[in-house]
Amino acid sequence: MASKSEAGTEGFDEGNGKKEDMYQILSKVDYSDDVFMQVIEAPAVAAACQAGQFIILMIHEEGERIPLTIADFDREAGTITIVVQAVGTSTRHLQTLGKGDSLTSFIGPLGQPSEIEKVGTVICAGGGVGVAPIYPIARALKEAGNEVICIMAARNESLLFWEDKLREVSDELIVTTDDGSRGRKCLVTEPLKELCEAGGIDLVYAIGPGVMMKFCAKTTEAYGVKTLVSLNSIMVDGTGMCGGCRVSVGGETKFVCVDGPEFDGHKVDFDLLMSRQRQYLKQEKASLDAYLSHATVPDEPVPDEPVPDATACNRAVTAGV
Ligand code: FAD
Ligand code: FES
Ligand code: MG
Repeated sequence: MASKSEAGTEGFDEGNGKKEDMYQILSKVDYSDDVFMQVIEAPAVAAACQAGQFIILMIHEEGERIPLTIADFDREAGTITIVVQAVGTSTRHLQTLGKGDSLTSFIGPLGQPSEIEKVGTVICAGGGVGVAPIYPIARALKEAGNEVICIMAARNESLLFWEDKLREVSDELIVTTDDGSRGRKCLVTEPLKELCEAGGIDLVYAIGPGVMMKFCAKTTEAYGVKTLVSLNSIMVDGTGMCGGCRVSVGGETKFVCVDGPEFDGHKVDFDLLMSRQRQYLKQEKASLDAYLSHATVPDEPVPDEPVPDATACNRAVTAGV
């Protein structure tokens, strides 16, 4: 996915330009070695965005498009907050930018907003960096008069962030870590199961890595509790034109960028989603290696990993339809 110039050092200075028509980074906070928050001046996006939507940014003119959920917004200040996990070339490059740096493009709001209604008691479960997109949804659900139970989960304490912000919008907050360094030592599905078993849960939101959402949806399905998930499929244009973000939901092909990103978790083909998320791993690794060593990506094409055949949607994608 990464372009040659993006992976090397050439062209990176462009991302640090300070042209007035660019989107300025007003502040940056590192939450861990890999996770950081940036507040970006983008008044038009801030004026129009709603919980559940996302933006696509480009660091410089030849850069990749990076889709990121709107984690918070301030309409008066005209700012958007993003929380990013640095996983590859583009997000690692973004991590190097801070206050005063600017982005070439910042498009949004994209996708369908969350449908916020008063339904009763709602569980909002955020795993890893998924805590950031859960926050505006939990806040909107609370403002709509729901009882909100938040579960925030991470591998260990150092990866937890926004506990205070989530507590402010929750009637109850449960913290879990895989290693027990903070909160309960368990996976997010354990308290989720207990709460569903106790009854009275009207809706669940689960946002995080694909595997976390898959098992949250499996957990709630047994109790018949409606569960919404927010999908992070690979995106290119973000406007429904390229088909890159296809997923299978209830046997139908959907485009995450325009039909989603939220879908009924009981109907999502998570295995297909996760296999498609991995389809450019070789190219991404070559790009990151080159970026980290300040070299350029080799000219010869890196062969694609075969995508496991799963559904008609998958076959259409591998056939390039
Ligand atoms: P790469 O090394 O290029 O890729 C690493 C992995 O990231 C890939 O294996 C693939 O699974 C995924 N990825 C790569 N390119 C894309 C792409 N163009 N679109 C989507 N996924 C990609 N991440 C966050 O940290 N915070 C967020 O709030 C967030 N919100 C998202 C909202 C949406 C709607 C989507 C689709 C994705 C979101 N992501 C979020 C994921 C983020 O876009 C990717 O991690 C990022 O694009 C990876 O780029 P990279 O070059 O650093 O990594
Ligand atoms: Fe191209 Fe969704 S990203 S159709
Ligand atoms: Mg990339």
